[in-house]
Amino acid sequence: MAHIPTTERDSFGSKIGVIAAAAGSAIGLGNIWRFPYVLGNNGGGAFLIIYLVFVVGIGVPVMISEFIIGRRSQRNPYGAFVKLAPGKPWYLVGIMGILAAFTILSFYSTIAGWTLEYLIEAFSTGFQNMTKSSLNDNLNTFINNGYRPVLWQLIFMFLTGYVVYAGVKNGIEKYTKILMPILLVIIIVLDVNSILLPGAGKGLTFLFKPDFSKINGEVVLEALGQAFFSLSIGMGTLITYGSYIQKKENLGNTAVSVSMADTLIAILAGIAIFPAVFSFGINPEAGPSLVFVTLPLIFEQMTGGYFFAILFFSLLAIAALTSTISVLEVVVAYLSEERNMSRKKATVISAAAISVLGIGCTLSQGPAPQLHILGKSLFDAMDFLSANILLPLGGLFIVLFVGWQLKRLDVLDELSSGGQHKVAFFRVYLIIVRFLAPIAILLVFLNNLGVI
Ligand code: TRP
Repeated sequence: MAHIPTTERDSFGSKIGVIAAAAGSAIGLGNIWRFPYVLGNNGGGAFLIIYLVFVVGIGVPVMISEFIIGRRSQRNPYGAFVKLAPGKPWYLVGIMGILAAFTILSFYSTIAGWTLEYLIEAFSTGFQNMTKSSLNDNLNTFINNGYRPVLWQLIFMFLTGYVVYAGVKNGIEKYTKILMPILLVIIIVLDVNSILLPGAGKGLTFLFKPDFSKINGEVVLEALGQAFFSLSIGMGTLITYGSYIQKKENLGNTAVSVSMADTLIAILAGIAIFPAVFSFGINPEAGPSLVFVTLPLIFEQMTGGYFFAILFFSLLAIAALTSTISVLEVVVAYLSEERNMSRKKATVISAAAISVLGIGCTLSQGPAPQLHILGKSLFDAMDFLSANILLPLGGLFIVLFVGWQLKRLDVLDELSSGGQHKVAFFRVYLIIVRFLAPIAILLVFLNNLGVI
């Protein structure tokens, strides 16, 4: 086994740096692109409530657990389980995480590619004089072209590989500290504009007013999947980042801050989208194309829209990049620590392999609809498989691992940084990771399998 001495591991330099990097991973297309359309497809306000319950009750504890596993072991997700539970099959959870990295990045890079196309369009036309139907046509023409979306996807994968290869420390940490606050400001400006549109109230009602008759097993599974996806939990991204967190940092506080930031951005994205959706008469169930039509419509109408369009799509691309990096990093950390590969070789091989699957996802959206499995396009299948199956399953094993495999005192030692911090909610945390979270995840699964 390749051996990397702990002292040589990269680590984040400061508390703010840790939060920025982890929030950079969490905040991405999942918040701005996926959250609004999944909420739209699943009944609006009722979905939001279940989502929030899952973030607080399951998401935060899973995130804390990943940080614990990573920092305790100082390893990638596979090596972490091998080191903390030698000779036991827990390493399979790490392997599942690496598989999930493939499925997530393959469809994620499709949409990340779209953001680059839209960035260029923002520069060249600023969506001036476009209408709802011309924006729809515009997106369809682009998707069905095949060649352009693939090209953008490969460019995006190249950028991701470039940053990962260069190392996480001096890139991501520095970068995310500046970019994340800017993202917040832009979203707030968009929110104000959106709320002032005629008929905006209907959108806010859709987003915030729960209609409990809309809730069924599928909606609950979607909410769980979205919570895992948005928080970047369940596949070992935050095990990997946890292994870069210095011993003195407070893991519980970090997880709470990151989860709050992530949730705030998702809700702000919802406020930017839904008033506009209703004001312009767009179907809230439009699916993945939702933000690529509504936001340009807002830009077209607002003062200074040209600049905001450019700013918005650059930030979206950057938000996506700080997330794709964190996914690729899992595979690269695994290959370089466990398979004796140089970081460079590991990056090239993993980025190339993921791109092959990724191209399939991209083409399945447009010119090659025959690329489908299990009644879904390859793109939708990868999305469903990762968010709704692999991540919750990974999360289930992660909490069980911390709850039942690790020693209670070791968990407390990690959470308190060797006694430096008070751990106020330790008992509650233990009850959640041992019982409540595993039972809740299992119930959601069984319900969807039709077992209960
Ligand atoms: N959370 C990111 C987003 O919302 C995507 C992401 C990054 C992710 N790393 C992950 C999702 C790990 C699941 C697991 O855009």
